[in-house]
Amino acid sequence: MNGLSSVFNLLAYIAAAVFVLGFLNKVVLYFKTPSPLKIPTTPAPKTSMGVVVRLIPEVLFFRSLLKGGITEKILWLGGWVFHVCFLLIVLRHLRFFTYPVPECIMFFQQIGIWAGLVFPLALLILIVRRFLNDRLATITLFADYFVLGLIIAIGSTGLLLKYFARTNLVDVKAFILGLLTLSPVQLPDSPMFLIHFSLVLILLVYFPFSKLMHAWGILISPTRAQVDNPREVRHVTPWA
Ligand code: HEM
Repeated sequence: MNGLSSVFNLLAYIAAAVFVLGFLNKVVLYFKTPSPLKIPTTPAPKTSMGVVVRLIPEVLFFRSLLKGGITEKILWLGGWVFHVCFLLIVLRHLRFFTYPVPECIMFFQQIGIWAGLVFPLALLILIVRRFLNDRLATITLFADYFVLGLIIAIGSTGLLLKYFARTNLVDVKAFILGLLTLSPVQLPDSPMFLIHFSLVLILLVYFPFSKLMHAWGILISPTRAQVDNPREVRHVTPWA
């Protein structure tokens, strides 16, 4: 194995560790953070099971984003299409991570390609709306453009790999399975793959420290996930 391969194998392990530990750290931190007030958006469920039922359309269809005006509707469209495409792309990519490849992953191969093609368009909607709407442009931070740019770059280099800078997929799979089985092997000989893969590593490292943690936050956000029972159960904060 050459020097570059050793470096990339090491970087992949570091990025995976930062992602997993960073994510878990945030999960614990969010749980430990007291919510001083009962603030579920009413009408809200009165039981925990009700909260679960409330969260399902929220997670699957981003229901509350569909409620506002035209700006929110555009956000909903771009956001929902983006997340569905992302999921399908990841499911398609699982063929690199499994051997033999399960039937259910094979099922997502064709639709995963279509998702890859729609992906940049959805991202474009998300980025353009930040420029076109004055109020949004004011509250947009560099971090918002950074993460959109990063994901656009990952999607575009993926498409380049698929259509223009073909790489040897057997080598790609050997590389990934080598990582997973803790027996690292040589990197695929493809600069475009190196770029695509490096961008993914950057995303993994960045994820736990960014707004991308909304992926977990949505499940415990007080306005959506609190039970509406202030009369039945006294809401006491640790310092009260
Ligand atoms: C955030 C995660 C990722 C995203 C959003 C992403 C996105 C994409 C997209 C949109 C494509 C083109 C469509 C397709 O062939 O599926 C693609 C292709 C590709 N991706 Fe990724 N990718 C990600 C992670 C990875 C990882 C971790 C690997 C490492 C194995 C990888 C390796 C490849 C390869 C080798 C191709 C070309 C596939 C082919 O030629 O059929 N990607 N990626």
